[in-house]
Amino acid sequence: MEKKKTFTLINDQTGESWIFPVAEGTQGPGAIDIRTLFARTGHLTLDPGFTSTASCASAITFIDGEKGILQHRGYDIRDLAEHSTFLEVAYALLYGDLPNAEEKRVFEKDITYHTMVHEQIHTFFRGFRRDAHPMAIMCGVAGALSAFYHDSLDIWDPRQREISAHRLIAKIPTLAAMSLKYMLGQPFVYPRNDLNYAENFLHMCFAVPAETYRPSAALAKAMDKILILHADHEQNASTSTVRLAGSSQANPFACIASGIASLWGPAHGGANQSVLEMLKQIGHKNNIPKFLAKAKDKDDPFRLMGFGHRVYKNYDPRAAVLKGSCDAVLDELGVEDPMLDLARELERIALEDDYFIKRKLFPNVDFYSGIILKAMGFPSEMFTVLFAVARTVGWISQWKEMIEEPNHRIGRPRQVYTGSAFRPVVPLRERSGAKKEGPPIL
Ligand code: SDX
Repeated sequence: MEKKKTFTLINDQTGESWIFPVAEGTQGPGAIDIRTLFARTGHLTLDPGFTSTASCASAITFIDGEKGILQHRGYDIRDLAEHSTFLEVAYALLYGDLPNAEEKRVFEKDITYHTMVHEQIHTFFRGFRRDAHPMAIMCGVAGALSAFYHDSLDIWDPRQREISAHRLIAKIPTLAAMSLKYMLGQPFVYPRNDLNYAENFLHMCFAVPAETYRPSAALAKAMDKILILHADHEQNASTSTVRLAGSSQANPFACIASGIASLWGPAHGGANQSVLEMLKQIGHKNNIPKFLAKAKDKDDPFRLMGFGHRVYKNYDPRAAVLKGSCDAVLDELGVEDPMLDLARELERIALEDDYFIKRKLFPNVDFYSGIILKAMGFPSEMFTVLFAVARTVGWISQWKEMIEEPNHRIGRPRQVYTGSAFRPVVPLRERSGAKKEGPPIL
């Protein structure tokens, strides 16, 4: 019988020791199960940014950062991007396997017939200024969906969980397209049931009442592939936000709104918009050395946007697929974009630079996505919204997996306290103006 793997922790001052079991997955690193650590040792673990902490066990997505591998339910991201549709990937994330033809037909129908939003939601948009960032609008209107479905939602009822998941996958693209139309000052375009998911989204974004619009097959295919590449990514910041919000038993609409808020940050999903702003700032390949020097300067907050990743210490496979698609999509659209050559030259120089090589900093999913989205006609403010459209599938799949985990508990991290020890309240008239020194930096 194979001996179970364990780790022993020893207190070097007292000589006490404790044995902890190891939780092994089907692939990737195992984890030392420390859930009894505080009760047994009176000590916590400290891991700001969670660089060495697994928050959960999950069967949805596997990443091997050293090898640059990304799999959803065991299917490699390159295969999925090449041979499946976004809704097939959504089905696999939600239910565990790619669908057969009948399962695919039923799922597509379910999603298609949930794409309209309550007419009252149109009025929510009217409250925003036209120059509001579409992510600000999405944070608001996605959360507002709770007001329309919260009363009919029992998160412990599998069928109601499934309906909520279908509603979110179907309605977030509609809200996203509405946020674009509102920004442009154009009328909202209703979803159409005769179009597939990607075609319908493009139609709601780019159709105008003055003429008929039908997205080209190539544009719809490119949109569908971009959605696949952004669908899920293990326990990233926004997914962890959704899980933590969901652990309090908040309704899934509110949880997705929290994920949208977290994704907006330029260190996360907001990076795709920041990459384009950075490329505009660099302007010409002659300026690349100056900006690389800024990126390496610890006193300069500038970072090379679209580069680096907490998990990938190799080329992000999604960036590789997007880089490969750039030429085809731009040619198909008849778009010449000097930003693409600039991005490629920036990547070439950075990947030859010791600073980036030593830190294993490679292009991530955000480095090339903006160039394709810009060529497709999206303003850069919409890039993170499109990321949220795709990631809604990952978020709701992870939320569902968490709720269905029999022993799941509310997420409640602890802390190391570095503030003042107990002190009595001094009456105002006796308080001096002296400033105390700051807390210790851990
Ligand atoms: C996404 O988690 C996910 O899976 C996210 C995501 C998903 O699909 O959900 O993949 C999507 O968010 C992709 C990442 C998009 N963000 C960016 O492109 C912003 C630029 N990248 C960095 O801000 C950074 O690389 C992070 C935030 C992505 C990762 O940060 P980490 O893991 O905390 O890395 P770090 O800051 O500890 O960096 C390690 C070293 C540091 O230097 P030293 O202190 O060792 O000297 O690398 C340096 C950093 O200064 N570094 C960079 C850099 N990224 C890291 N230096 C210059 N430019 C960069 N982009």
